[in-house]
Amino acid sequence: MLTDNRNVPLIIIVEDDYNHSELMKTSLHGAAEEYCLKIAASLHDARVTIEQHPPDIILTDYRLPDGMGSELVSTVNGLCPVILLTSQGNEQVAVNAMKAGAQDYVVKTSAVFAGISRIVQRGLREWALIQDQKRAKEEFHRIERHLLHVQKLESLGTMSGGIAHDFNNLLQAVLGNLELSLSKLPEDAPARNFICQAFNAAERAARLSKMMLAYSGRGFLNNGELNLTDLIEKNANISAAVISQNILFNLNLNRGLPLILADADQIQQVIMALLINSSESITTANGSIDLSTGVQDFDKKSLNNSRLEEKLAAGRYVWLEVSDSGCGMDVETRNKMFDPFFTTKFTGRGLGMSAVHGLIRSHKGAIMVDSSPGRGTTIRLLFPIINMPNYRVISDVEKE
Ligand SMILES: Nc1ncnc2c1ncn2[C@@H]1O[C@H](COP(=O)(O)OP(=O)(O)O)[C@@H](O)[C@H]1O
Ligand SMILES: [Mg+2]
Repeated sequence: MLTDNRNVPLIIIVEDDYNHSELMKTSLHGAAEEYCLKIAASLHDARVTIEQHPPDIILTDYRLPDGMGSELVSTVNGLCPVILLTSQGNEQVAVNAMKAGAQDYVVKTSAVFAGISRIVQRGLREWALIQDQKRAKEEFHRIERHLLHVQKLESLGTMSGGIAHDFNNLLQAVLGNLELSLSKLPEDAPARNFICQAFNAAERAARLSKMMLAYSGRGFLNNGELNLTDLIEKNANISAAVISQNILFNLNLNRGLPLILADADQIQQVIMALLINSSESITTANGSIDLSTGVQDFDKKSLNNSRLEEKLAAGRYVWLEVSDSGCGMDVETRNKMFDPFFTTKFTGRGLGMSAVHGLIRSHKGAIMVDSSPGRGTTIRLLFPIINMPNYRVISDVEKE
């Protein structure tokens, strides 16, 4: 049955032969299913109608006064199925129609006109199936890409963790021996200066390998009950030292924070990594960085935005936020910012954020990133509160 109800499938029939379009119209009138119908007599008319009334399906004559019906496939661009009707069926026409992307190809006969509703129903069914398959395929590719990414990060983590661990042990031996040598040398020994330089370089290397260990989640956890605000206040001078002089540094600290179970040194390392990045992102004269803490209830939806694989359960969490008025990040940088060795800086090493990732992961927390070019960056870290119902004990110290 034909109606004006736009909740039923809208068919556009493109047909220059009046008799044929009337036959189809009459047939659809008598059909059990409800349809909305528009008729166009040329390619041009069809394009105008499609523009004004996006259809659910198009039945088009193969040859039209101003072109081929198959040209409508590119006009609809995947919006709906196009079924080609032709007076003479031959193989070449069929091949051309399918090549052009038509969903089906039907030779006009009186039986086809009489049963046009069945052709429409079949067209809509097949279209829905194709769309389902397309969606499933896209979802599959998305998951595959995601899995590859996770595997890549995991293997990088394992590798860098392994190297960093051995490297760190070797460096401790180097540092120990250099320290011993220094203690045995007289104050004015000419070699002292060289040994001091070697010591400083080895210390820098040890710091780097600790960062890599942190990224791999194999860093040593020295957990204790921690009040984030107290930690930040205690280390305010150290934090301020990594920020350029011309940047305004604001602290907005909540004094009534519940305790979290955390490794204070590692949390300080995280804060420093965030502050350094914020400072480096500000290139204008009057930039500012805010370091804030708080406690708040979070719902599942917002927690699912965490950049860590393991999402937290809804509940109350202590948070720490570093917000800057810097250059911000585009979507590509945001996507890669936690990848080890990813950097957009000439001098960067790209280990800061990957260490933050590893450290917050081992604290069973969450990381939220809000950033866009020109709008600055806000990074918020969440930590489970001790004794809350959703609190889970952080895994025991991972010893090698
Ligand atoms: N606050 C920020 N503002 C703008 N970009 C940032 C910020 N934090 C991180 N990034 C981006 O993430 C990248 C990775 O950061 P990081 O791992 O610390 O490496 P690095 O600082 O050595 O480049 C940076 O190079 C930068 O592009
Ligand atoms: Mg950095």
